[in-house]
Amino acid sequence: MSVTGSTGPIIPGDCGRASLPCDAVDVEDAIRSRRTHKAFAPDPLPRELVDQLLEVGRWAPNHHLTNPWRFRVLGPVALEKLKEAAGPEASAKLDRAPTLIAATFVRSEDPVQDQEDLCATACAVYAVLLAAHGRGLAGYWRTPGVLRTPPGLDALGIAPSEQFVALIHLGWPRQDREPPVRAPAAEIVTYLD
Ligand SMILES: Cc1cc2nc3c(=O)[nH]c(=O)nc-3n(C[C@H](O)[C@H](O)[C@H](O)COP(=O)(O)O)c2cc1C
Repeated sequence: MSVTGSTGPIIPGDCGRASLPCDAVDVEDAIRSRRTHKAFAPDPLPRELVDQLLEVGRWAPNHHLTNPWRFRVLGPVALEKLKEAAGPEASAKLDRAPTLIAATFVRSEDPVQDQEDLCATACAVYAVLLAAHGRGLAGYWRTPGVLRTPPGLDALGIAPSEQFVALIHLGWPRQDREPPVRAPAAEIVTYLD
């Protein structure tokens, strides 16, 4: 699927058009054609575009409307701190995308709510990735090891009251990605009597 606005492909630097409704993108096409990208053009997303994507994220399903998700858009200082925490080998991978957003959720003492809030936040991350894809952007859901360590979490100000879910990578794509094979539906679906 080529992702288009109403007058043609959405291209870097043409962000004003990102405010157009995504009426050219069929939902199922978008779900099938979204890919994990690991090579990005260097241009960071403008703030208003990031705001649009995160605004979409908050429409994810959410039992009891707890609004559990939190998004931290990394600026240069935060990125540097995270790279320091990651160490020299792992830090190079943090430079792959021009825009990084850490998604967390606020932990609950109730284990059922905690699990549901994790699921809701995963849905929100996916909604952000789909909204980005719908605008011709490339995305990548990454869970780097550094964000499972206290120094990594400290670098982004993530307190123990929150749990890390995703380091969302966003930018404009540099290359097409082949879809990885999925198990056929017949293998994963059971109709119960
Ligand atoms: C919870 C979660 C964590 C992920 N973490 C990583 C990661 O740390 N590194 C990575 O290369 N891909 C990561 N991915 C992306 C998957 O590898 C990717 O979705 C999968 O290969 C299928 O490719 P597609 O997204 O293009 O369909 C993660 C995806 C999810 C849902």
